Amino acid sequence: MREAILLVGGQGTRLRPLTIATPKPMLKVAGVPVTVHQIERLRSAGIDRVILGTSYRADVFAEGLGDGSDLGVEIVYAVEDEPLGTGGAIRHAADLLVSGPDDPVAVLNGDVLSGVDYAALIAGHVAADAAVTLHLTRVDDPRRYGLVPTDPHGRVLEFREKPTTPEEIVTDQINAGCYVFRRSVIDTIPSGRVVSVERETFPELLAADELVRGVVDDAYWLDLGTPQDFVRGSADLVLGRAPWPGHEPADALVLEGGSVAGSARVSAGSCIGRGATVAADAEVVGSVLLDGASVESGARVVSSVVGADAVVGATAVVEDAVIGDRARIGSGNELRGGARIWPDVELADTSIRFSTDA
Ligand code: GDD
Ligand code: MG
Repeated sequence: MREAILLVGGQGTRLRPLTIATPKPMLKVAGVPVTVHQIERLRSAGIDRVILGTSYRADVFAEGLGDGSDLGVEIVYAVEDEPLGTGGAIRHAADLLVSGPDDPVAVLNGDVLSGVDYAALIAGHVAADAAVTLHLTRVDDPRRYGLVPTDPHGRVLEFREKPTTPEEIVTDQINAGCYVFRRSVIDTIPSGRVVSVERETFPELLAADELVRGVVDDAYWLDLGTPQDFVRGSADLVLGRAPWPGHEPADALVLEGGSVAGSARVSAGSCIGRGATVAADAEVVGSVLLDGASVESGARVVSSVVGADAVVGATAVVEDAVIGDRARIGSGNELRGGARIWPDVELADTSIRFSTDA
């Protein structure tokens, strides 16, 4: 058995209100939960058993994924009563592992779309007999991530989680949230308390002179933690920029039961959810309409998420915004620049009449 642990217990605060009812890894990008995208790629890499480390809204995972038989893997659940942090969650999930002490175990942050070659990462880890191997990626602005400088042989020198001062930005290589652990190393993480793998476990392994490797590549990589990155990730999947085996790249993806009027325009990787509708003369650009959402005539939705069964009224403009489930944006309103509307909120139609009403 080849096993992986998925860390899916975070609150997804930066994606509220979408994460009020649905934990971040179960949000759909291009119509499929992030976790499912990950499991499908893991399965192709030979992983056949997945332990989901859940805490926040654990029930949603079990309802959506069951025992994994639909996905061709065995899924088991390690539910934390209180969130144990990334390291604590890995230790907690380890109780369900069947791997032997020297076997490699993959561990993934549950909010990342990645094209990394998992099989090669695991093979390299085993060949090097490392304690841990980390996938690293390069980003323009590393401040939101964990910085991981390496020596010329790929040996990790240091961890700097979320650096705050310019002097701390010593590299553009960051922790891509995908690790391969030697199983026995997981067993050394203290159990029953909150542990950060980034701030505690990794630095301790370095201090103990264990071999911690970093593997940098140029594969597609995106953390979906913010609304902007969430819509980008979905669009990248639809457009074929992010890896999605079996998907035919397209300018827009209309899921089963979704409909787009002949005079409407949907583009830039937009995903129109199941039963969602885009009415005449409306425009949807680089956005995600969740299931049952509707965009009424002449409205414009750009780089935004429209929640399940939410309504964007006629001629309204929604740009760089997140609309909660079942909310209603009355006709003629304009929402821009990071606006967030909570579920069930109703914004009245504006009284301004447009020429189309004259
Ligand atoms: N089970 C469980 N319990 N999971 C958790 C917990 C917990 O207490 N806390 C966080 N997680 C999960 C989240 O659900 C998410 O999938 C993953 O762990 C990482 O948490 P984030 O909150 O998304 O962390 P981040 O994005 O700020 O930073 C992490 O990821 C970056 C790459 O995306 C760190 O690992 C950084 O070092 C890294 O660069
Ligand atoms: Mg994240």
